[in-house]
Amino acid sequence: MAAEPRHRFLCQVADIPLGGARALALGPELKLFAVRTADSVHVYHNRCPHAGFELNWLPDRFLDHSGRYIHCQAHGALFEIDSGICLAGPCPGARLERVAVLERGGKLYLALDAGAARREPLSP
Ligand code: FES
Repeated sequence: MAAEPRHRFLCQVADIPLGGARALALGPELKLFAVRTADSVHVYHNRCPHAGFELNWLPDRFLDHSGRYIHCQAHGALFEIDSGICLAGPCPGARLERVAVLERGGKLYLALDAGAARREPLSP
């Protein structure tokens, strides 16, 4: 009997712009987005902890104008990219819901077994 897959392909890391973000929809009920920094990729559910709206109004637009914060378009909450913590707006201290991912060979996977997820430096 074959083992169940413990991860699911999301995208190529290179498909996420460095210093930018990309929506990752895995069907109507699982809407995620990824933010790629110099040394990591952060993946969160596309749902604001303030009122539950999706954060973006335009495709792949999840960051503020400075590119330093995740921005909710609905009421202007700003979230730290690394932690997902709201730093400004209507829900200070609330967090975006992080998703466990794996990066292997330049590919990003959703970790179905969160215990298997590890953070690794990304290949240049
Ligand atoms: S729903 Fe995001 S700030 Fe209100």
